Amino acid sequence: MAVLEAFDLINGELQRVEETLRKNIESQVKIIPEVGDYVLKSGGKRFRPSLALVSARLCGYQGERHINLASAVEFIHTASLLHDDVIDEAELRRGKSSVNSIWGNKNSILIGDYLSSRASSLVAHDGDLRIVKIFSEFISRMAEGELLQHAKRKNINLHEDDYLSIIKKKTATLISVACQVGAILGQSSPEEESALTDFGLDLGMAFQLKDDCLDYTSEKEELGKGIGADLKEGKLTLPLLLVLKKCTAQEKKAIKKIVSASVLTKKELTTVADLIDKYEGIDYTLDRANEYISKAKRHLDIFPDSPEKYALQLMADYVIGRKS
Ligand code: IPE
Ligand code: IPE
Ligand code: MG
Ligand code: MG
Repeated sequence: MAVLEAFDLINGELQRVEETLRKNIESQVKIIPEVGDYVLKSGGKRFRPSLALVSARLCGYQGERHINLASAVEFIHTASLLHDDVIDEAELRRGKSSVNSIWGNKNSILIGDYLSSRASSLVAHDGDLRIVKIFSEFISRMAEGELLQHAKRKNINLHEDDYLSIIKKKTATLISVACQVGAILGQSSPEEESALTDFGLDLGMAFQLKDDCLDYTSEKEELGKGIGADLKEGKLTLPLLLVLKKCTAQEKKAIKKIVSASVLTKKELTTVADLIDKYEGIDYTLDRANEYISKAKRHLDIFPDSPEKYALQLMADYVIGRKS
């Protein structure tokens, strides 16, 4: 369900984004519309395109270009999920079987590439060289983030700063790009553009911090993704990094063994979840997320009050309050 479905503000535009996404999965190669349709129909919050649409409106944009650019943002996000689920060997996405678990890893990667190229095409057709550069730079950052994360897998000495750098690259940059594109379309001042870019970056940091909490605290049915997936994949996220900083040598040894094992049992997940409870890893992570949200909102101070500014503030609160 779209984040702002309750809002009348961008409903019409979001629907046009949906049509654009649909049009861009048409192909003679049957598996592309087949899988594309499965992915689009499986839902997703459309958080990033919503941000692009609201940001463009906040900056007074009244044209049509935001529809294709918001669609490009969503396509890159979707492509990254198709690739991410292969890397993470995820079986569940948006409450349904992941594409890799139905059509296999190879198809998942190739269709991810296809969707990413649809995004490039939409951006190229828009024709604004600055936006082209922003998108291509961002795609490099995101790949760096996923690669860095892969390199640091199972490393219990991962420093909090490295973790923050990973989530900034893999998640926060795209959320920031979505907001920046809106500012560029609205021909906003350099100060306003950088305020929206920074708003997106801080919002994106909080978004991933919350995602990393949900991975430990949610229910599979509610989240639509596997629980404990990060630990299973050897991904050390902030709730566990905090434990590693505070725990006893014996507890650390136990965590090391669990993290390096090739399979994760339910009992082991409970052991780690209990330690996260004991050392308040979730509270700590949510506190960091809340700090990013407060900072994000402060970037909006330079904009006069408007329904769009209010919508962005609500979206910021939503990042912390969300259950999926
Ligand atoms: C999932 O993003 C990937 C992360 C960056 C945590 P979303 O939570 O926005 O995924 P959908 O699109 O709503 O499924
Ligand atoms: C975000 O990280 C992935 C991307 C930015 C592609 P996760 O691996 O935590 O995302 P989920 O939890 O699988 O959605
Ligand atoms: Mg994943
Ligand atoms: Mg996750």
